[in-house]
Amino acid sequence: MEIFLDTADISLIEKYKDFVDGVTTNPSILSKQGSVDVKDVVLKISKLVDGPISVEVISSDFDGMVTEGENLAKIHSNVCVKLPCTFDGLKACKALSNKGIATNLTLCFSVPQAMMAAKCGATYVSPFIGRIDDIGQDGINLIADIVEVYDVYGFETKVLSASVRNINHFIQAAMAGSDAITLPEKVLEQVFVHPLTDIGLKKFMSDWSKLKGK
Ligand code: E4P
Repeated sequence: MEIFLDTADISLIEKYKDFVDGVTTNPSILSKQGSVDVKDVVLKISKLVDGPISVEVISSDFDGMVTEGENLAKIHSNVCVKLPCTFDGLKACKALSNKGIATNLTLCFSVPQAMMAAKCGATYVSPFIGRIDDIGQDGINLIADIVEVYDVYGFETKVLSASVRNINHFIQAAMAGSDAITLPEKVLEQVFVHPLTDIGLKKFMSDWSKLKGK
């Protein structure tokens, strides 16, 4: 399973670079950095992590998305152009995929959207777990359904679980066979903390220091 960090914060990417295979951003995430120099951010990320860097287009029409996608792809070979699962976004996915540009179809909330993303040659499709949970449905079910349908038809598009809000989403997405997941810092940091690990380590150290005292 590929693990991505869902941030554009360079200090966080530096901190976790040994544990992640790539980085995902979106306009909201980039806006939190207070700078709109996307090229600068992408190049900084590329120096830290040698893997896909998802960057989303701002245009909402086909021509604008394709032009923007081509320009983003020129910044660095690891750029994966993020496009929304709309009519124009899916058309742009097909056009960019035909040119060999990696794509990540974002804001995916249904199996048919994911199927269309695969048929348009998407590299990744990003179903949003947390935002589905927010409307009283089960985001993990969507991951499992897409994984199953992709397996049935042999689609090569990778399922990238997004909008991950807690460690249980991580566990359940992995169990459902998601090819990739993108984690915000607040979830990734939980991977390295378990109360029983802390208690166990304290006991080991205490027993060891008793021995040394003899
Ligand atoms: C990443 O690709 C998505 O844009 C991100 O995970 C969305 O997360 P959110 O629903 O917590 O904003």
